Parts: sequence; C-alpha cells; structure tokens
Amino acid sequence: MNGYRTALLTGASRGIGEAVAVALAEAGLDVALFARNESDLARVAGRVRAAGRDALVLAGDVTREEDVVRAVREAEARWGAIDVLVNNAGIGLFKPTWEVAADEWRRVLDVNLTGPFLFCKAVVPGMIARGRGQIVMISSDVGRRTIPDGAAYCASKFGLQALTEVLRKEVRAKGVKVGAILPGMTDTYFAGSVQGDPRKADWLKADDVARAVLAMVAAPPHAQIDEIMLHPMIQEY
Ligand SMILES: NC(=O)c1ccc[n+]([C@@H]2O[C@H](COP(=O)([O-])OP(=O)(O)OC[C@H]3O[C@@H](n4cnc5c(N)ncnc54)[C@H](OP(=O)(O)O)[C@@H]3O)[C@@H](O)[C@H]2O)c1
Repeated sequence: MNGYRTALLTGASRGIGEAVAVALAEAGLDVALFARNESDLARVAGRVRAAGRDALVLAGDVTREEDVVRAVREAEARWGAIDVLVNNAGIGLFKPTWEVAADEWRRVLDVNLTGPFLFCKAVVPGMIARGRGQIVMISSDVGRRTIPDGAAYCASKFGLQALTEVLRKEVRAKGVKVGAILPGMTDTYFAGSVQGDPRKADWLKADDVARAVLAMVAAPPHAQIDEIMLHPMIQEY
C-alpha cells in the first residue's frame, strides 16, 4: 500500500489494535505488535501470519522509554524501516474530577499522551531520513469535545490532538504524514468493558476504526488525511 511495507502498532493485543493489526496485514504490511500482554500479542501475531505477513511481538509499556526505544530498534533491525506507526494504546478513566487520584491522572496522561510522544520521538528520525512515512494517532471524539467525568481522558486526547497537529507542521515538508482517527463509542475492552457485550451491539466495531486507519494510510503520496471522526448512528454528540 503506497509502497509501505512495515508498521509498528501499539495497543496491539486486543480491541481496536487487534483489528488494525489484521487489517494492515491483509493490506500487505508486516506488523510489529507492541503491548504489555505477551500471550494476547502472540494470538494477534498468529492472525497477522495467517494473513501471510511477518509479525513481530514486542512486549512493553508505552510509558517506559527504554521499552519504546528497544521495540523500535528491534523492528528496524528486522525490516530496515518502520513505514507506518499507529499510536493506539490507551486507557480510560471516568469519574468526577475531584475524585481522580493524582496517580490516576498521571497514569492516563502518561499512557495516552506521553506514550505516543515517546514512539514518535523514536520513529520520526528514520522516517525523515527516508523522506516518507505515515503516523496514525488513535485519538477520540473527546479529543475535540468534553464530557463530564472525563477530565483526565479528555485532557489526554486534547493533548494528543495538539501533539498530532504540531508534529504534522514539523514533518510535512519532509515527506512524513501525521493524522488522527477520532472514534466515538466503540465495542472493545475499553475501560474494563467486555468486547461483544450485547449492550454495545449498536456501537462502532473495532473493524470500523481499522477501516478508517487503512483509508488514511492509503491516501496517495500527494495527499494527507488530517483526521477522520466517526460515530455509531445511535450516538448523540
Ligand atoms: N473503545 C472506545 O469507545 C474508544 C473510543 C475512542 C477512542 N478509543 C481509543 O482507542 C484506543 C484503543 O482502545 P480500545 O478501545 O481498543 O481499548 P482496549 O480494548 O482496552 O485496548 C487497549 C489496548 O491498549 C494497550 N495498552 C494499555 N495500556 C498500555 C500500556 N501502558 N503500554 C502498552 N500498551 C497498553 C492494551 O494492551 P495491554 O493491556 O496488553 O498492554 C490494549 O492492547 C485507545 O487509545 C482509546 O483511547 C476508544
């Protein structure tokens, strides 16, 4: 796809990340899978290989710079380059602002904002050197609007939008594209829920978000898609 051959995807062990991993593999990319749960990653790697592509399991925490740097080095050593970076790992926390513990606040900002920053920092220099690449941030529709009980989560995703837009301005002229996907309610394991719960039957599916990622990556070389926001028909926003 666009000559892109390899991708590194965070939060690849389940939910949206699993769907993106399989979609990228079916589109012909080898996929490096980063998350903490190694056995879930091994299962997703099996699905990537079943689609005929190479899979690399990279166990780590997006908040730990040493894990991030090691993962990027491993993927680059195996394939020579990371053409596509998908920053998808994220956690939710929903409670009144004054009930959020300082450590909970820091963890949400760390995973959802510092994690993508660390991966961009590690991957972008290679993309600039090659004069090409695509970064996809899995943000949220609440990266553009706020909801009660969402102080830490909204702050993290508003921050991610800012990181996305700053980075886009920095690397556009160097041939590197930076875009964000902003989904509404999506049926995954997000915030302790269970994927496939019948109460979420009308929500977006992880595959819907994966299709948006593919559309962004598939934009022709002369065009970049800045963002895609998508919602289930039942959601008011
Ligand atoms: N579901 C929704 O309604 C919705 C809506 C808008 C945006 N989003 C965004 O979509 C993204 C994916 O979420 P999801 O809905 O697919 O949720 P999910 O099913 O809970 O998946 C979250 C993924 O992130 C990984 N992860 C969490 N903390 C991590 C850490 N510290 N280091 C590395 N990996 C970590 C998890 O893997 P491990 O536990 O194995 O580390 C898992 O693979 C998130 O950024 C979320 O904010 C979700």
